[in-house]
Parts: sequence; structure tokens; C-alpha cells
Amino acid sequence: MSIEIDILNGDASWKIAEPLHQAVWGPQQIADKPWVHVKWANADLRVLIETPEDGLVCHVGIYFRTATWNGQKVHIGGIGGVCTREDQRGRGYATVAIDAAVHTMRANEAVRFALLFCEPHNFTFYETRSWLPFKGEVYCEQPEGRIRFDHMAPYVFNIVRAPTLGTIDLCGLPW
Ligand SMILES: CC(C)(COP(=O)(O)OP(=O)(O)OC[C@H]1O[C@@H](n2cnc3c(N)ncnc32)[C@H](O)[C@@H]1OP(=O)(O)O)[C@@H](O)C(=O)NCCC(=O)NCCS
Repeated sequence: MSIEIDILNGDASWKIAEPLHQAVWGPQQIADKPWVHVKWANADLRVLIETPEDGLVCHVGIYFRTATWNGQKVHIGGIGGVCTREDQRGRGYATVAIDAAVHTMRANEAVRFALLFCEPHNFTFYETRSWLPFKGEVYCEQPEGRIRFDHMAPYVFNIVRAPTLGTIDLCGLPW
């Protein structure tokens, strides 16, 4: 079976990603989540995996941000909106899409490390893929102002050097 992996502009490809995104994080699915009211950043790029038979089966959003770590500016990459269509899980699609996202971030020479946020049921999934828990504090922007972001656990991935302690300020919306 052939698969097609595209990495497209985030805004331009939102229409393609939206139905899958809605199926996984529609209003009903997220109604009781502690992060239901969080305003999220839009992805800069998207990894989209499609098959001829099933269309879009997997999505990973890619984010680029000049954040700060312990007050020092640092260019970081992020991934978010990682999802595989429910009936297509366990076939390695998310692994392939995350690898493509990390490869894309590596190609951006400024990026020092990657960052994602996830819920406890996905800790093992990321830990077995070499992501490390970030044990410090994360701050971000929301419409009401700067907040400590502790709705989900941060994980970092080493591109050049990944911190696991200290304070990261996303200097913008979270992903
Ligand atoms: C998490 C998710 C993206 C994985 O997608 P996928 O395409 O099935 O992932 P892959 O096929 O690449 O990897 C599946 C592997 O991870 C394991 N796995 C899947 N979800 C896991 C989890 N939550 N915790 C631990 N392992 C997990 C599977 O057992 C399988 O292991 P194997 O490779 O040893 O067989 C998918 O389950 C999903 O869309 N979940 C709902 C949305 C979500 O939680 N997204 C993550 C947001 S941070």
C-alpha cells in the first residue's frame, strides 16, 4: 500500500486537516477537558499522510517560535494536533508523521529543540519515541494575558540541546 506524505503551509492546508481534527477534538470530545477554553496557535506547517484508499489518515501540526528559556531567547519547534483516524491507528502513521515533523525542524538551522504538550495517556507513546519530560515551568499567552501553562505535560525533543529544567516562555499562544 502506498502512502503520500505532504508538508504544507498550515493555513492553506487547514481545510484538508479540519475534518480529521474535528473527529478527534470536536466539541463533544473536548467538553470535559481541563483545557477546553485554551486558545491555541495555528500550525505554521502541517504533515499530512494520505492513502489512495482512505484519504487523510494522519496529521501533525508544526510550529516555529522564538520563545525564551530562563529569560534567554531561543528558537524552538513544536508539534501539536497529532492525530490518526481512529480506524487507522497502530499502523505507524503517527510515528512516520512525527519523524517527518522532526526532520523538518532539523532542516531549520535555528531550532534548538522541539516541544509538545500531551495528556498522561500519551506519555509512554512519546517517551518510547525519545521525547523527554520537561520538568520546569511553561508560560504562554492567552487572550486574558500571560499564564502559566499547566493543562498538559510538556515534553522536549533534542535537536541541538534540549533543556528539561528551568522556565520556558512560549511568548505566544500554546500548541
Ligand atoms: C496517539 C496517536 C496519534 C497514535 O497514532 P498511531 O498512528 O496509531 O501511532 P503509531 O501507529 O505510529 O504508533 C502506535 C504505536 O504506539 C502505541 N501507542 C499508541 N498510542 C499509545 C499511547 N497512548 N501510549 C502508549 N503507546 C501508544 C501502539 O501500541 C503502537 O505501538 P507499536 O508501534 O509498538 O505497535 C493516536 O492514537 C491518536 O490519534 N490518538 C488520539 C489523539 C491524541 O491523543 N493525539 C496525541 C496528542 S499529543
